[in-house]
Amino acid sequence: MSLLPEPCSLTLFPDPCSLYPAFMPLAIVIMAAGKGTRLKSRRAKVLHEIGGRPLLRHVIASASQIVSPSDIYVIVGHQAGAVEAAVKDAGVRFIHQQEQRGTGHAVQTAAEAVRQYEHLLVLSGDVPLLKPETIAALRDFHIAQQAAMTILTAAPANPTGYGRVLRKSPGSPEVKAIVEQKALTPEQHGEREINSGIYGFRTGPLFEHISKLKTDNAHGEYYLTDMATLLADAGERVVALEASNPIEVLGANTIAEMMDLDRELRLDTARRLMARGVTIFRPETTVIDSTVEIGPDTVIEPFVQLLGETKIGKDCRIRSYSVIENSMLADNVLVRQACIIVSAHIEIGALIGPFTHLRPESHIGEGAHIGNFVEVKKTRIGKGSKANHLAYLGDSEIGSGTNIGAGTITCNYDGVNKHRTLIGDGVFVGSNATLVAPVEIGNGAYVAAGSAITESVPQNALAIGRSRQTNKPDWAATRRAKSSKS
Ligand code: UD1
Ligand code: CA
Repeated sequence: MSLLPEPCSLTLFPDPCSLYPAFMPLAIVIMAAGKGTRLKSRRAKVLHEIGGRPLLRHVIASASQIVSPSDIYVIVGHQAGAVEAAVKDAGVRFIHQQEQRGTGHAVQTAAEAVRQYEHLLVLSGDVPLLKPETIAALRDFHIAQQAAMTILTAAPANPTGYGRVLRKSPGSPEVKAIVEQKALTPEQHGEREINSGIYGFRTGPLFEHISKLKTDNAHGEYYLTDMATLLADAGERVVALEASNPIEVLGANTIAEMMDLDRELRLDTARRLMARGVTIFRPETTVIDSTVEIGPDTVIEPFVQLLGETKIGKDCRIRSYSVIENSMLADNVLVRQACIIVSAHIEIGALIGPFTHLRPESHIGEGAHIGNFVEVKKTRIGKGSKANHLAYLGDSEIGSGTNIGAGTITCNYDGVNKHRTLIGDGVFVGSNATLVAPVEIGNGAYVAAGSAITESVPQNALAIGRSRQTNKPDWAATRRAKSSKS
C-alpha cells in the first residue's frame, strides 16, 4: 500500500484531492494548545522564539515538507488567537482545544477533523528541531511495520524529564508501554530510551480506543502516551523507531532548554553557511537567524547578529558587534564595528561604520561611505557619496559624488510634519551645516561650513548661511589686564 495519495499533480482549483476526502491517507497533527507552565512566562510556549522564529513555525516548516499545509492540523488553545495569528500565513488548519486536559485529550479534540485520513503523524509544537527527513523516516517505518502506533524515540545523554519507552524485549521493535518521568519505578530510572512526543497512528484503532484514556496520573490529565498500552493490550501493533540524531527530538519545556535548542539551531545555520563558503569566526558567539542568506567569501567576525530576512552578498566583511536585521547587502560591502542596520539596502562596494545607524528605508549607493556616528533614515544616498562623520540624514535624497561634512543635520521635522531634503550630484556640504527642510541643494553647489540653510541653493552656487565673524583686536589682553588690577 502506498502511503501518499495519488499525487494531485493537476493544479486545478479546487484541489481535486479535497473533493474526495477518502483519498487523503495522511495528515499531520501538531499539538500546540498547552500553556507551558514550566516556562514561567505569560507568552504561550509555542510562541517563544528560537533561531528568530516561534517554536511552532519550525514545526510547521518541517511538516510542510511532508504534507500540504491544508493537511496540517494545529491544535490551539492557550492564547489561541495569538498563536493562530503568528502562523496563519502558513495555510494550515486550526482545531480548538478549549480546555487543555492533556496530550491525549488534544488528539481526541481533532477526531472529527482528521477521521477521514487513514494515518496521522502527531508532532509536538515544542519539539522544534525535528527535520523533515526524520518525519519521513517515521512515516515510512510506521507504514512498513503496519503498526497502529509508532513512537519516535531517542537516547539522549540525559533522559531526565522525558517519558521512557519500554520495549517488549530488548531490540524488539514492539513496545509495551510509555512511562512518564514522574511514574518511573526506581528500576525504570535507568531506562534510556525516551519518548519524543512524536508518533504515527492508524486513525481507526486510535479513535476506537482513545476514549478509554484515564486521568489517574500525576497531572490528572489524559496522556497520549497511555495509548501505547491501550493499543498493545487490544492486540494492536505498537512499535518504536529510534531517531538517529537525538538533538532533533529535544523538547523545550523551560527557557534554559529553549536556549539550548536556540544554540543548536544557530550552530546548524552557521555550519550550513560555512559549507557554502562563508567564514564565520567563533560561530558560537554569533546570532544568525535560520532565514539569513550569505554569499561565499564573506567573513563574519565574532559577536555579530544577523537577523530576519537579511541577505548578504559575496566578498563582504561584517566586523564585530554589528547588528543587521531584514537588510540587503550587495557584494563587497564592508560593515565596520558596531553598526546597527535595520531594513536597509546597501549597494556593491559600500563602506559602512564604525558606529553607523542605518534605519528603515535607507538606501546606500554603490561605493558610498557612511561613517562614524552617522544616522540615516528613509534616505537614498547615491553612488560614491560620503558622509563620514557625525551626521543625521533623514527623509533625504542625496545624489552621487556628494560630500556631506561632519555634523550635517537635515532638520526634517517641524514638530508636526516630516519634510524632505534634496541634495544633487557633486555637492559639497561643509561641516556643521543645518539643512532646514523642505530644501533643495542643486548639483555642484557648495554649502559653507556652519550654515543654517533655509532656502534652496541653485546649481553650482555657494550658500553661506551664517553671520560674518568679527575680530576685536587685543580685546582679550585688555580684559586680562583689567581683571588683574581689581
Ligand atoms: C510529553 C510526553 C512525554 C515526552 C515528551 C517529549 C505526554 C503525557 N508526555 O511530555 O512522554 O517524553 O512530551 O517532549 O504526552 N498540549 C496540548 N494540549 C494539552 C496538553 C499539551 O496541545 O492539553 C501540547 C503542548 O502545547 C505541547 C505538547 O502538547 O506542545 C506536549 O505537551 P507537554 O506538556 O510539553 O508534554 P511533556 O510534559 O513534555
Ligand atoms: Ca514538552
